[in-house]
Amino acid sequence: MSAALRFDFNNMLDSRVGRGHGVSSADLAKVAGSAEKAQARLRRLWADAGTRRRVGFEWAVLACQEEGLVRRIQELGDEIALKYEQVLFLGIGGSYLGLKAAQDALCPPYYNEFSSLRRGRAKVYFEGNNLDPVPVATLLEEFDPRKTFVVVISKSGETTETKAVFEVVEDWLKKGAGIHYGRQVVAITDPVSGSLRRRVDALHAQDPLSFRSLALLPGVGGRYSELNMGLLHLAIVGIDLKEVLAGAQDMAKRCLSPSLAKNPAGLYAVLHFLAYRKKGKTIGILMPFAESLKSTADWYCQLLAESLGKKFARKIVKRKDGEEEWQQDPGRVVHVGRTPVPARGTSDLHSIQQNNVEGENNKTITMIRVERFPREVAVPSSEGLLSGRSLADLLTLAQEGTEWALVRAHRPNCAIIMPEVTPRTWSQLLFFFEWATAFEGELLGINAFDQPGVESYKNYMYYKLRKPGIPKAIADEIKKHPLKKERRWVV
Ligand code: PA5
Repeated sequence: MSAALRFDFNNMLDSRVGRGHGVSSADLAKVAGSAEKAQARLRRLWADAGTRRRVGFEWAVLACQEEGLVRRIQELGDEIALKYEQVLFLGIGGSYLGLKAAQDALCPPYYNEFSSLRRGRAKVYFEGNNLDPVPVATLLEEFDPRKTFVVVISKSGETTETKAVFEVVEDWLKKGAGIHYGRQVVAITDPVSGSLRRRVDALHAQDPLSFRSLALLPGVGGRYSELNMGLLHLAIVGIDLKEVLAGAQDMAKRCLSPSLAKNPAGLYAVLHFLAYRKKGKTIGILMPFAESLKSTADWYCQLLAESLGKKFARKIVKRKDGEEEWQQDPGRVVHVGRTPVPARGTSDLHSIQQNNVEGENNKTITMIRVERFPREVAVPSSEGLLSGRSLADLLTLAQEGTEWALVRAHRPNCAIIMPEVTPRTWSQLLFFFEWATAFEGELLGINAFDQPGVESYKNYMYYKLRKPGIPKAIADEIKKHPLKKERRWVV
């Protein structure tokens, strides 16, 4: 395997950052049994197609997809990218963050600003990822609807943010692009359920060139689905999908090794689990030293927070057909999960690094070091200290300095080393974090593939919007416990 990602965990160990903060051999020995079990469980789950789909682990097989489908998506991406001036993606959470991360990692910076960088392809914008009216109104004022293609992504097809903005955009398209405006829309959603699916199927039946859709795979949760729902976006910006999938395969092979020592994601999970449980490191900072990976840190924050931040332990129920069903165990309230924080080197060395080094010693810092950049820039030769130095070398030195400062201050940290940022290494990184998160979920004994906590604000909104079919228990709870405000406490 060429250009493999590496995980350097030297500075997570007590020999580097001291006994109170670093993981010791004794800590590792104590957790060895659970780590082996977690490793074996994920390997078993991977091989059990029924359970995999049922519990939301299907993402683990996304690295291997049917060639014909991948080719068709690549062709559709080319068709859209070469015909339209801009493509507007609508989606939120897992239906947005992976795409944005891919865009920033794999396209040149300032992609939308310069057509030479886009090699004649469409500009790409993201909306529907919040309810702020200003950005979408601004875009719709500036865009020509006849030259705009829209991709709406929602697994459930019900998410308020995406739904509301899609209706606004659809209306704008209908008024400005003529009766065939639906030919400028692709929907990526569940194959059977949800109002988006029902709507696009009905409109597509009237005109087969309108409201085309791609089906999401059952058993793949939003935040684990970049290699499913994100493929059309990757194709639109001209990335070779085969390379992306090959990278995920590289990492999947390593994560499926029976030996934990050969599984970088498993080791990452075990060390962070121990730092959390034994050393009180409740915060996990991800700090890539590459601008292109800044949005990948945002994507990772959603992955960690939604996957591991859980109230209840998981209960595994064996079904009659042998498959597993995962349920919340109401008798075991655990309230677990490290808090993720995105950062970037070197900008945040002039910001949160002060707190990392001298503030509360309650965090781990994961850095991402890139060894080769596609461009080289050197400081011109002069008398000064920096004379003739390349910016990339200075960046590496800054990352090394950050490690040194953290070690001196007894702050556990580690580095993921990427030989360079390419479609293949980037998808290795994605899969590395996904496997690590699933592994940490196993060690914590929770379900890393659901997100019940994000439902409550939605239920509140649906209740206030009078959505039909709200379960009585939820409606009663909102009625019984209204949000109370006292004037005297607002100054
Ligand atoms: O990870 C998840 O499942 C969530 O973050 C969802 O992606 C997010 O809530 C958006 O959901 P949907 O794609 O159904 O609109």
